Amino acid sequence: MTEAIDAAGVAALADLPLDWRFKGLPTSWWGRTPAQVCAAAPNLRDAGALGPVCVLRDEALSRNGETMARWCRDRGVELAPHGKTHMSPQLLARQFASGACAVTVATVSQARAYRAFGVREVIVANEVVDGWALRWIDAESTADPDFTVLCWVDSVEGVEQMAAHLGGSSRPVDVCVEIGLAGGRTGCRGAAAVDAVARAVVACPALRLVGVAGYEAALDHDITPDALARVTAYLAELRSATERLADLFETDTVVVTAGGSTYFDAVADELAIGSVAGRTVRTIIRSGCYLTHDHGLYARTSPLRDGLRPAMEVWAQVMSRPEPDLALLTMGRRDVSFDQGMPVPLGVDGTVTKLNDQHAYLKLGSDGQSAVGVGSWLRFGISHPCTTFDKWQMIPVLDDDDRVVELIRTFF
Ligand SMILES: Cc1ncc(COP(=O)(O)O)c(C=O)c1O
Repeated sequence: MTEAIDAAGVAALADLPLDWRFKGLPTSWWGRTPAQVCAAAPNLRDAGALGPVCVLRDEALSRNGETMARWCRDRGVELAPHGKTHMSPQLLARQFASGACAVTVATVSQARAYRAFGVREVIVANEVVDGWALRWIDAESTADPDFTVLCWVDSVEGVEQMAAHLGGSSRPVDVCVEIGLAGGRTGCRGAAAVDAVARAVVACPALRLVGVAGYEAALDHDITPDALARVTAYLAELRSATERLADLFETDTVVVTAGGSTYFDAVADELAIGSVAGRTVRTIIRSGCYLTHDHGLYARTSPLRDGLRPAMEVWAQVMSRPEPDLALLTMGRRDVSFDQGMPVPLGVDGTVTKLNDQHAYLKLGSDGQSAVGVGSWLRFGISHPCTTFDKWQMIPVLDDDDRVVELIRTFF
């Protein structure tokens, strides 16, 4: 069987020499390859990391991968992790190794990046109406019968545009009808629109209707009873669309896909239905953030928050202590996410109150004031992995003694 990702291509990333492009990494590593660096397993601080530097924890990554894989097996769902979270073929290879069935992406550029590493199964979680993008999909699928792209559609107009761009392609592109939420993002609003789009796909030889898709967290990540009731009602719409469209699907194996990292338990509850009208149903969740988890948004909202461990930290140095309860750090909006909450100081009494481009303002509690001086290094947990990953092109993975065991390349 062809491998899910080109292991040799991924391994070859460890042979590309390091240099000044990779912020935070020790200058002494320039000219050496990740393979050479990791062979010596240096302690990151002793090796000369500059602040700020983003790191991943190996033990937490492995644990989270296994925890999620076990959960998916137990709940009868498959996992196509969202690859936009990390844009890292090495992390995706870990996810495939623990049983992921495909990668999810938001754009065809992201699909191309993973395809460069031989990925065969891609879910593009959007309608694609760009002719160049569709022709790329068509050319890749024609050249490699093992390459499968599944896109979403949410309008008859979109279906018509896709059909026009795909013209006389030899192999139809698989599509799911996307169900939307009032006030939310993309996706058909209401059953009549869903059915019209599904019928338009069936009438179009360039497309093949294989299922139903949605994203239940488009409105928020709230886990109050009211919010959970809204999510459940939305997922019930996906379920009834699956049942209603059962005879229209152009495959015996129907795909039903929903589920980011906050509500995947509700997705399993509502959508792991096994079969519909004699056809097998594959229920695919698309969580991206479970792998690193975090100290903020997902620490509060993940259904597996008691089992997952935060794997991502940003380390920074105190550059100034201008007031008794204030420390300024070498870490700013260029280095760490701030869209879903501020970084969380680890092991020090304080709160990050503000970020500039290149500075963090740490308000210190009384214990922190005595412990933190100019030059101190502090560790921070993050809230929302996606918007921290995209600020780093090379991220050291550390063992429990802060020794570097892998260097993870990202491609944003
Ligand atoms: C369509 C879609 N699916 C899945 C996900 C993954 O969710 P999460 O980032 O919570 O892991 C996202 C995230 O934005 C998304 O937009």
